[in-house]
Amino acid sequence: MCGIVGYVGSVPASPSPRPLEVALQGLARLEYRGYDSAGIAVIDDGQVRVAKRAGKLQNLRDALAGEEDTTSPIAIGHTRWATHGAPTDGNAHPHLGGKDDELALVHNGIIENFAALRAELETEGFVFRSETDSEVAAHLVAREMQGTGDLTDAMRAAVARLEGAFTLLAVHRDAPDRVVAARRNSPLVVGLGEGENFLGSDVAAFVDSTRDALEIGQDQIVTVTADEVVVTTFEGELVPEPKRFTIEWDVTAAQKGGHDSFMAKEIHEQATAVADTLRGRIESGKLHLDEMSIDPSVLRSVDKIIVVACGTAANAGNVAKYAIEHWCRIPTEVELAHEFRYRDPIVTEKTLVVAISQSGETMDTLMAMRHAQEQGAKVVAICNTHGSTIPREADAALYLHVGPEIAVASTKAYLGQITACYLLGLYLAQVRGNLYPDEIAALMEDLDQLPAQVQRVLDDAEQVGDLARAMADVSSVLFLGRHVGYPTALEGALKLKEIAYIHAEGFAAGELKHGPIALVEEGQPVFVIVPSPRGRDSLHSKVVSNIQEVRARGARTLVIAEDGDDDVLPYSDVVLRVPATRTLFAPLLTVIPLQIFACELAAAKGLDVDQPRNLAKSVTVE
Ligand code: AGP
Repeated sequence: MCGIVGYVGSVPASPSPRPLEVALQGLARLEYRGYDSAGIAVIDDGQVRVAKRAGKLQNLRDALAGEEDTTSPIAIGHTRWATHGAPTDGNAHPHLGGKDDELALVHNGIIENFAALRAELETEGFVFRSETDSEVAAHLVAREMQGTGDLTDAMRAAVARLEGAFTLLAVHRDAPDRVVAARRNSPLVVGLGEGENFLGSDVAAFVDSTRDALEIGQDQIVTVTADEVVVTTFEGELVPEPKRFTIEWDVTAAQKGGHDSFMAKEIHEQATAVADTLRGRIESGKLHLDEMSIDPSVLRSVDKIIVVACGTAANAGNVAKYAIEHWCRIPTEVELAHEFRYRDPIVTEKTLVVAISQSGETMDTLMAMRHAQEQGAKVVAICNTHGSTIPREADAALYLHVGPEIAVASTKAYLGQITACYLLGLYLAQVRGNLYPDEIAALMEDLDQLPAQVQRVLDDAEQVGDLARAMADVSSVLFLGRHVGYPTALEGALKLKEIAYIHAEGFAAGELKHGPIALVEEGQPVFVIVPSPRGRDSLHSKVVSNIQEVRARGARTLVIAEDGDDDVLPYSDVVLRVPATRTLFAPLLTVIPLQIFACELAAAKGLDVDQPRNLAKSVTVE
């Protein structure tokens, strides 16, 4: 969704390209969030200068060609993901505000009461040039600036009138040394440099320049100059010690590193990702989750767990359900976050809510977790993005530490989320005494083998790539799985839909004969995720029967099975092998061929693997 960047340096002795370069570089780093237009603003010779273009960032760069030098020490920039109004030059941000275009503003979020505000401002003679909700904020701040002469006070007065979700960044010709920003229900972080400071929707916006960052809390305003960052609340109180943090990754993590796409790179980083999520969490045979700031007595009283999440994160939650119920004997529900609060869920002080979100900014998940907290539940966030809203508002946060995930399609974060869920489940079992210490140690030992096993599957990527390229013209693919293979089937189908635009459905294999088998006709490709034959016999043999059922009806069976499982051979057109592990840990391996398949097939079709149509990386509106 929208990306925001801000830069404040010192007044240049002569025209300099630095502010525009930093803003454009920041916007390039935020491209992964998904956008359909881009723009920037600076203040040159006492006038606000704005350039904005629909389409890719290159269009904006072309528009600026030869005019990159500026006398402005500041710049703001924006990538827009259209909500109100089509993706046109006019609707792109920044928007000019005031009767003399004295201000420029960028906005992320949705201003719900914009229609009433627009009518009010039009009556006062303010002219609107876009169809966006955001332009009202530009005129509002400009109007308040006329009264107070102080951009921070003007921002404060303006946000008091706004309803909805917003991050706003404003620059004004009468305050040319600063950027003033405000946030409510929408992300914003500050980067701290030497004689220059930065703002961004996330740290990727400024990681090229600094790894020193500051969290900006809910309902706070930040005034940024070259040498100072002052944070105040919407009520005007100073926030004495805003939380500082160091960005754990460097700029190489935000580059493709020789791969054709970020998705391919992130798939191939998954052995490291699992190792990074596990790192430092076991000490003298005991599981330590330092971030688990919920008192063990509270965890012992938990009588129900509800996982709230969306998309891939919800599929990780579905794996977690099997593990947590098995190890901890706590009833565990998984609910799509956007459905959760509308069904009047039964939540009490004994409910533990687990909010899973790679970005930490998914509005549906944030709202679900707030709803649970209002009813007294404690929330553990499983998240990858430091400083984001969900872990900040949760009662405890478990970070994945898998580095930035740039591709819209989630891969390494999915493996990190599942791994973190295992850690949470084992930690609960340890605290509540559901498993003996030696049982936990044995499970942890097996989990420690997973990074090497993930690498083994990745080493076979070429076989899956060949399969995908040979199938580039398929129009429908089905995915079947039982037990933890079921969420894997859902995830395989989701990957294929979102980046290859192919109709794909994931089913619980047992559901097949209750309807979906009618879809199977001659040549229909069906992936089947087969559980270990060393686990529960009945589970394995039932899935082998399911392969036979679809094959008997003409399906082309693409089977993912453990090394040495020969029972599948008579019924498989293609077998993709994964190393043997515990049934509960298999989702970390069996999903990998499905990720590679989607990635390679999308590439073979010539599609934009990293930025699929209509999708955004973090969905910050409900
Ligand atoms: C994953 O491939 C998707 N792009 C999407 O389903 C994603 O997992 C979902 O939007 C949740 O995002 P989050 O983890 O950042 O909350």
